[in-house]
Amino acid sequence: MKAAVMRAPNAPLEIEDVELDDPGPGEVLVRTVASGICHSDLTVIEGGLPVPPPTILGHEPAGIVEAVGEGVTEVSEGDHVIGCLTSWCGVCKFCTGGRPYLCPTQFAGRPEGSKSRLTSSAGDPIFQFANLSSYAEKMLCPQRSLVKIRDDMPLDRACLIGCGVTTGIGAALNTVDIPAGASVVVVGLGGVGLSALQGARIVGAGKIIAVDTQPWKFSLAKDLGATECVDATEGDPVAAVHALTGGGADFVFECIGLVPTVQQAVAMTGRGGTTVLVGVVPITETVSISAADLTLQEKKITGSYMGSNRFRFDMPKYIEFYLDGRLHLDEMISSRIELGEINEAFDRMRKGEAARQVILYE
Ligand code: APR
Ligand code: ZN
Ligand code: ZN
Repeated sequence: MKAAVMRAPNAPLEIEDVELDDPGPGEVLVRTVASGICHSDLTVIEGGLPVPPPTILGHEPAGIVEAVGEGVTEVSEGDHVIGCLTSWCGVCKFCTGGRPYLCPTQFAGRPEGSKSRLTSSAGDPIFQFANLSSYAEKMLCPQRSLVKIRDDMPLDRACLIGCGVTTGIGAALNTVDIPAGASVVVVGLGGVGLSALQGARIVGAGKIIAVDTQPWKFSLAKDLGATECVDATEGDPVAAVHALTGGGADFVFECIGLVPTVQQAVAMTGRGGTTVLVGVVPITETVSISAADLTLQEKKITGSYMGSNRFRFDMPKYIEFYLDGRLHLDEMISSRIELGEINEAFDRMRKGEAARQVILYE
């Protein structure tokens, strides 16, 4: 099968012929129908998250089950599925405590010493990213990386729910409790931010202020529920948010993962408000913030990982939101491309020229 292989950081991905092993116990072979391109993959390519090359990135897929391994009972051939990187074990304290997205085994892969799920045409192992590696025509995944979805849900939109949409909407629906009428700011209007914004609308937030450096995103943000937009390249976006909210917002979602925008997000948060850090800041960097500001104004800061998801429960629900018209996905897709155009897609992402880009296979 064809796959886009990351051979080294900071280099273009290479389209290669790659082999997949047969499904082992608990494993499922999925034909990838569509994969969204998420910013975290670019973070890996640029060295901000350590993943050993050679690897196949891609973690926002939807596809159709082709075959199942021994003991697989949760999906069967022909099922339409979404893949999610937060695979779960079902028995640890996080899984049994209701927060399976924190399961420490989520990236475990096959047991030590087993054959690699992915190998190059020369027979060398290729590291599978997040049990998925969706920049490839097929995926071999644990059954607990997959959720079966309705057959009538278009897979090119379903894939977005695999990461970006779940990360953003879940930050608003699961990580924090937003009372109806509360003021919300979303910093960064990529797939993740636009989904957080839609989550804020769905729960009945009051003002929803969208902040970005690319003004072309504002009409899209307004269509999706933003009541105001702030161009971060024109003056101080913190001052703009304070002016619009009378001293800072109740909830601020940072959906980029940059040190300055994390600092801005805390500063945009009003007295008693909550900053939600959704974007992943490169692990090599630290962020300095005023602790006194937190104490004296009782601000809270929380991280939000993968939309605090229980994806077997959440993703079918988000599909219902799409099909009943509450969650807009069509508008978020700026282009549908072939696998061979993936490097150009990352270039567009670097320049901020894209909303969500989706690879369609076949
Ligand atoms: N101020 C405001 N907006 C900015 C700034 C800035 N200084 N810099 C970039 N942006 C905007 C971009 O213009 C773009 O609209 O942030 C948005 C980022 O969108 P994408 O690159 O599409 O990223 P996305 O896939 O949504 O992921 C965002 O969430 O899951 C994490 O690791 C992921 O850190 C990433 C973040
Ligand atoms: Zn992602
Ligand atoms: Zn677990």
